Amino acid sequence: MISRSMSACGSPNPKRVALHPIWKPDRSHSIKDLLASFLTLPSPFLFGLLSFCYRSVSQGAMAGGGVVNTGKGKEYPGQLTLFVFLTCIVAATGGLIFGYDIGISGGVTSMDSFLKKFFPEVLAKEKADKSTNQYCKFDSQLLTSFTSSLYLAALIASFFASSVTRAFGRKWSMLGGGLTFLVGSALNGAAVNVLMLILGRILLGIGVGFANQSVPLYLSEMAPARLRGMLNIGFQLMITVGIFAANLINYGTAKIKGGWGWRVSLALAAVPACIISLGALFLPDTPNSLIERGHSEEAKQMLRRIRGTDDIDEEYNDLVAASQESKVVKHPWSNIMKRKYRPQLTMTILIPFFQQVTGINVIMFYAPVLFKTIGFGSEASLMSAVISGLVNVFATFVSIFTVDKLGRRKLFLQGGIQMIICQIIVGTLIAIKFGTSGEATLSKAYAAFVVLFICVYVAGFAWSWGPLGWLVPSEIFPLEIRSAGQSINVSVNMLFTFGIAQAFLSMLCHMKFGLFYFFAGWVVVMTIFIALFLPETKNVPIEEMILVWKAHWFWGKFIADDDIHVEMGGAEFKPSV
Ligand code: BGC
Repeated sequence: MISRSMSACGSPNPKRVALHPIWKPDRSHSIKDLLASFLTLPSPFLFGLLSFCYRSVSQGAMAGGGVVNTGKGKEYPGQLTLFVFLTCIVAATGGLIFGYDIGISGGVTSMDSFLKKFFPEVLAKEKADKSTNQYCKFDSQLLTSFTSSLYLAALIASFFASSVTRAFGRKWSMLGGGLTFLVGSALNGAAVNVLMLILGRILLGIGVGFANQSVPLYLSEMAPARLRGMLNIGFQLMITVGIFAANLINYGTAKIKGGWGWRVSLALAAVPACIISLGALFLPDTPNSLIERGHSEEAKQMLRRIRGTDDIDEEYNDLVAASQESKVVKHPWSNIMKRKYRPQLTMTILIPFFQQVTGINVIMFYAPVLFKTIGFGSEASLMSAVISGLVNVFATFVSIFTVDKLGRRKLFLQGGIQMIICQIIVGTLIAIKFGTSGEATLSKAYAAFVVLFICVYVAGFAWSWGPLGWLVPSEIFPLEIRSAGQSINVSVNMLFTFGIAQAFLSMLCHMKFGLFYFFAGWVVVMTIFIALFLPETKNVPIEEMILVWKAHWFWGKFIADDDIHVEMGGAEFKPSV
């Protein structure tokens, strides 16, 4: 148990911090109420949705009074203001550029007119490929490396973004990301040769690297601790919206007769780029970042504004203390290697790795190919991809409304089990019909059954590993190494996104239906890992997170008592064991 050893004025204060908060359904709508109101959304849709969300969560967040230990971790005074809510929505639109790219590339590279212009030899080989083995589709490493080069650029860019985010604040990283993506989309839309295409892809990748590095941090720092999960998941929601919008756009542009549909698909990436760039211009910086850069007065004002109260001293002092700690650290990259940060470092490497080996991007990149494989025509395949995209968007709302109540662990565990079951079912359904030869025709009903389980799998991902893969790494690091930690998260994510995109078609050819069991196996491993090694982080103030690791049965060993000097409004936390 960790106790607060001194109060703000130096007198003993016996208050204790409960590190494993217990959910009490007392201050908020029940999930049932939330879902019921959700189903009766007023129109216009977007406005209704936003005002509903805001009303729901702000009523849930109306906690007043001083700093209290409610069994949910420390709570600061204040409420969810409309200002912070809108700010977080604008920042979350950074997810659109990432999502748009995930959704658009697969469709564009399957358009004949695109291949004819840039990769004519690939098109010729594809047309000549008469194999009836559905597992072994024509596979061009050149074409896939064009698609996945973006992720390599993002990987490298996120390391540069770390310094920008730390030195200049989160908003400038977002703006930089948006503008670079904008230039990339213009180059791609206007491309007349492969060089322009590739240059465009690299710029898009840099944009994604910067946005993915800064947006999750921004959201986690702006949000009040008790709603951090929900506001952070806005980022994942925008990723899913981006993917879905791209699917729909490809569906439309593939029908353009003149052979320039791919230009429209690529150029429309400018829309999400403008949204995040304009948004970032108006976004305020987070109090944490303002303090980190020495703007104390502005930070205080910002805190008053985003918490909707003048009673911000406690939180402000905590942030200042965290910032003073962080000032001592001149080299975040070597610091992150220290033993005391081993738990966070492990998580920030393994969580994005695990997220990618769920196999989700096989569906996101290759859904139309996969659906064609099981016997749908082109139109029905695209339609099925649109349906799974919609499931992805709507299932994300489940995590938005439950993550701060049920907590991260329950969603991880439930979603993991759901994905394992679906992957085993899909693998088996495919094995029954296609066997190892890869030749079969499925009835419509059988194919629809497969799609159904793919959708249930996508839903499981959309309320667990999807959002939590971005949320958890962004909330576990102390300020001094937060930017560096987030860069590692982005890079590992991009590296394995690249790997899966590059390897999927040949993996399918070699492993056949076993590929689904392969990914299921990984989800078993990650689910056990979460059960054993990830402590619950819901409702814990971000600068207090070290206490959670210290209290963990395994990770506690890595953190010496002396490593814990979390200043709490002048009060120092020390482990009492
Ligand atoms: C992942 C992406 C994935 C997307 C699907 C994100 O959290 O990082 O790789 O395509 O979710 O919604």
